[in-house]
Amino acid sequence: MNAIVRMPELPLDQRGRPLRDLRLSVIEACNFRCGYCMPADRVPDDYGLDAASRLSFDQIETLVRGFARVGVNKLRLTGGEPLLRKDLPRLVERLARIEGIDDLAMTTNGSLLAHHAQALRDAGLRRLTISLDALEPARFQAMSGGRGDIEPVLHGIAAAERAGFSSLKLNCVVQRGANEDQVLPLVEHFRSSGHVLRFIEFMDVGTCNAWRADQVVPSRELHARIHARWPLHALDAHYRGEVAERHAFHDGAGEIGFVSSVTAPFCGDCHRARVSADGHLYTCLFSGTGTDLRPALAQGESALAQRLSGLWSRRGDRYSEIRGQAAQPPRKRVEMFLIGG
Ligand code: GTP
Ligand code: 5AD
Ligand code: SF4
Ligand code: SF4
Repeated sequence: MNAIVRMPELPLDQRGRPLRDLRLSVIEACNFRCGYCMPADRVPDDYGLDAASRLSFDQIETLVRGFARVGVNKLRLTGGEPLLRKDLPRLVERLARIEGIDDLAMTTNGSLLAHHAQALRDAGLRRLTISLDALEPARFQAMSGGRGDIEPVLHGIAAAERAGFSSLKLNCVVQRGANEDQVLPLVEHFRSSGHVLRFIEFMDVGTCNAWRADQVVPSRELHARIHARWPLHALDAHYRGEVAERHAFHDGAGEIGFVSSVTAPFCGDCHRARVSADGHLYTCLFSGTGTDLRPALAQGESALAQRLSGLWSRRGDRYSEIRGQAAQPPRKRVEMFLIGG
């Protein structure tokens, strides 16, 4: 195993933020068409099936080593739907061995998880986040753009538990008029399960989800609704810059979280970089363009680290903080399914 040589001076961006967290998309395709992400009327059925444009496992390993050199210690695999990438457990096995990466996680829609949970665990994956926007079968199917069923996802959760994943995170994007009525049933279902359900405000990411401010359900409104039924109290963050605000049930039934990037932006501590499956770096979820890392990657992890250091040092992103300001020019925006959650 090659030890990671961290750069003697880790880069800080223009706002003094270090780079700690890499979200890496392994595939741009998805078998769901969630309306808030990849609506079926905007994204063709065969979208993202050009395997040749994706970084190879060798390239991904070098990429992650390069990121570790500039300070990344947390890696999340995303997509699209990462379990559509062939042989993913083989990639996980290689990434889990990289020194300096202390936290290896994955975000999935859960539809294929029952088949892969054990192999992922055996390969060294330690944390799993599963998207889950509804419990009621018809509502779940509608939220997935008519592509998904709740049953396989619940089986996937059970398989993950059997494989040894504990404290799963379950992410629910709440959209007014679409799945608000699923909030209390979801809380009821996952209270006392040991898993952490998080409610996410519908964001204006990308260009195709027809976002409207009146479809955002503010976290404070959801908190009030849940608190009235099962009293909650706030918990401290696990670490600086944690995205979800944590709340525990008074009665000891565990905790839930709220991700409030619309009503309470958290750009001030944002130490996340994102890389698309074709090797482009995005320094913000709301970036218009990415930077192709493949030329530097071809020269190896050290050259890549130098390049990343330069790029990160020039970063000034804080989109969620300035979203509401007047006179913002119209922006180009990357799609979230290209860079993951
Ligand atoms: P942990 O590693 O478990 O702390 O995960 P996390 O909560 O940081 O990650 P997760 O990917 O589950 O994030 C939950 C959701 O928060 C994402 O799907 C996004 O909707 C949103 N989110 C995550 N990071 C950012 C970010 O940098 N900016 C904005 N605006 N939203 C984000
Ligand atoms: N708003 C908020 N979160 C989103 N995600 C995708 N699109 C959006 C959006 N418009 C996140 C969700 C989902 C993950 C894969 O990406 O958390 O669970
Ligand atoms: Fe696929 Fe996740 Fe986007 Fe839904 S939110 S379309 S499951 S990538
Ligand atoms: Fe980070 Fe951009 Fe999200 Fe702000 S909007 S928290 S800078 S990714």
